Amino acid sequence: MRRIPLIQFGLGGVGRAVIERVLAAQEIFARREGMALHYVALCDSRGAVIAPDGLGAEDLRSLLAAKAAGQSLADLPLGYRQDGLEDIVDLAGVPGAIVIDVTATETTAPALQLALQRGYSAVLANKKPLAGPFALFQALTAGGRLRYEATVGAGVPVIATLRQALLAAQDQVQRIEGCFSGTLGYLATGLQAGEPFSALVAQAKQLGYTEPDPREDLGGMDVARKALILARTLGWPLELADVAVEPLFPPDLGAGSATDFLAALPALDASYRQRVAAARDQGCTLRYVAQLAGGAAAVGLRSTPLDSPLGRLQGTDNLIAFHTDIYHNTPLVLQGRGAGAHGTASGVLADLVALVT
Ligand SMILES: NC(=O)c1ccc[n+]([C@@H]2O[C@H](COP(=O)([O-])OP(=O)(O)OC[C@H]3O[C@@H](n4cnc5c(N)ncnc54)[C@H](OP(=O)(O)O)[C@@H]3O)[C@@H](O)[C@H]2O)c1
Repeated sequence: MRRIPLIQFGLGGVGRAVIERVLAAQEIFARREGMALHYVALCDSRGAVIAPDGLGAEDLRSLLAAKAAGQSLADLPLGYRQDGLEDIVDLAGVPGAIVIDVTATETTAPALQLALQRGYSAVLANKKPLAGPFALFQALTAGGRLRYEATVGAGVPVIATLRQALLAAQDQVQRIEGCFSGTLGYLATGLQAGEPFSALVAQAKQLGYTEPDPREDLGGMDVARKALILARTLGWPLELADVAVEPLFPPDLGAGSATDFLAALPALDASYRQRVAAARDQGCTLRYVAQLAGGAAAVGLRSTPLDSPLGRLQGTDNLIAFHTDIYHNTPLVLQGRGAGAHGTASGVLADLVALVT
């Protein structure tokens, strides 16, 4: 039985779902592939657990329960206070190890680089290390041992399709358009149905679709990072500052607290109602779209034909349309659940399997 040692950074919603999926897949994986997936280290923002022989299912389940209850690994009997992720890679890393980054911080980059230098592999759902300087993206992805399917479209196989179905086949990508935010998809569908912008933002926050501070979603940066990762996967040497970003609110509205921001949002309702009406008059609807063409990337609210794949998109689903030499008249379209811990975890697991099989 081949042993696959796993080191995981992050035990939030996605991190816990990854562990649950690994536990559920273990038996089939052992039987079909002759491989045993073993967690040798887990880290959260304060603590870590290191187990050179691998954590058993029972230990993993009790750690999951403790994390779901809001505890830190640092405070658990098995855990200790961690002093940097590079130390964890150094202490727990063994040949064949895979580092899984399911945090939401750019500070994991040095530990990822160390892991790759040591010959380990890595799987990311965390976009931030890949959306830093272009040179860092190149350094991280150069050897082909770092995979990042879940960073764009969560479980929808956007990166695999681009790399393996299009780029590997030398199909020239002319243009990519996509909706990569479940939250902004929810808002766009609600606007189309005639609901006020401010009420939709409040609903999305209540449903847990937005970050605690909705400006993080409405500012467009999360979609911009996804567009940047796609652009770089195409080989375009862009920086985040090169992505043109249209936020869904004017800068002066973003200056105060989150509560002030939400209270001020009704001031935008009339202008959104006008934009929706103007789009409808032209057979269009509004969608928050990432567009990549001619070496440039932009994200923003676009008037989109109702009879197009993006115009037909509803709710929190994600969609990507690849316009290429082969997929010329009709784009290659992928659509599906683009958010949620379990969809994202399935993208992570797919990368893990691809690395070891
Ligand atoms: N949720 C989705 O639908 C979705 C979809 C696609 C991609 N993603 C990406 O997946 C990642 C995880 O999302 P999430 O919803 O699980 O986030 P989350 O709930 O905020 O969890 C983040 C985890 O990272 C840990 N962490 C933070 N800083 C750390 C550090 N310096 N060292 C080690 N661990 C650290 C946190 O520790 P504590 O537990 O101590 O706070 C927490 O366990 C994000 O990058 C997100 O953008 C999410």
